[in-house]
Amino acid sequence: MNPYTLKNRYALVTGASSGIGREIARCLAKEGAHCVLNALPSETAVLDSWARELEARYHVKTWAVPVDLAADDGPQELYDNARKWIPHLDILVNNAGILTYGSFHSIPYAQHERLLRVNVRAYMMLMHRALADMIPRGQGRILNISSMAAFQATSYQAPYGASKAFVQSLSEAVNLELREKDIRICTLNPNVTDTPMINAYPRQLWLFTMIRLNSPAAIAQRGVAALKNGKSITIPGWDNWLLAHVAPRLLPRGWVNHVPYLLLKQGATRDTH
Ligand SMILES: NC(=O)c1ccc[n+]([C@@H]2O[C@H](COP(=O)([O-])OP(=O)(O)OC[C@H]3O[C@@H](n4cnc5c(N)ncnc54)[C@H](OP(=O)(O)O)[C@@H]3O)[C@@H](O)[C@H]2O)c1
Repeated sequence: MNPYTLKNRYALVTGASSGIGREIARCLAKEGAHCVLNALPSETAVLDSWARELEARYHVKTWAVPVDLAADDGPQELYDNARKWIPHLDILVNNAGILTYGSFHSIPYAQHERLLRVNVRAYMMLMHRALADMIPRGQGRILNISSMAAFQATSYQAPYGASKAFVQSLSEAVNLELREKDIRICTLNPNVTDTPMINAYPRQLWLFTMIRLNSPAAIAQRGVAALKNGKSITIPGWDNWLLAHVAPRLLPRGWVNHVPYLLLKQGATRDTH
């Protein structure tokens, strides 16, 4: 299959105000894609200025559409508003995500619920809406930002890992359903990346001594390359690839689950004892 060209495509990127989403928007714009950028309404100024900068630098069209994806009608509102600006959608990047750190019982339930709405419900609703437009047009690409957390249980960020496992399974299953069409659902599965999201972790975690931080720009490049090649799963780093693909086949599931448990335990001990 020929690589999917990005020039003059219309893309929607959620969570484009910072971290990986911001860098994915840069990669898409650099290759000539026109981008609708989303983040929370509180980040409107940041989003507007990023949209203007991309337009000036790469000579593409951009639109900032701030919407809270956790709101009941958030994903629908974002999609409808995006479609007011663009004639059709070629590329959806489901990237907006939140992380809660701590023992499951110590985190207020409302925070778990919000995480589920952003990391799961919004991904699934936007994917469903986008496919309704892509299937009659016979082409399209969806990049779902998953995580290494998708491949095993992740204690002390239990709903986060579970949300990524949901996105992983959904993406792989639907991608297979669409194999006869020129539509691909790709996942990007980074390990810990240097973005504002990781401020949720206490710095004394073993995670920060055992794992090197990825740069969001390098991770975004891998994601956009996956989009172009229609690669179903992209795991940056050979060590992560081994952890995701080999460890679960060689070791008992309980042992594999102990890896994130040990890496994430330090900061949570006060809550759990
Ligand atoms: N950083 C890592 O170590 C890592 C590793 C693996 C996977 N990931 C995944 O990568 C994706 C991007 O995360 P990141 O690390 O780049 O984090 P980040 O810098 O914190 O960016 C998260 C983005 O999501 C947006 N967002 C959060 N809640 C939202 C809501 N309710 N409605 C609309 N937008 C919302 C944020 O917008 P505001 O700026 O308006 O808050 C921000 O643009 C996430 O799906 C994350 O799970 C991250």
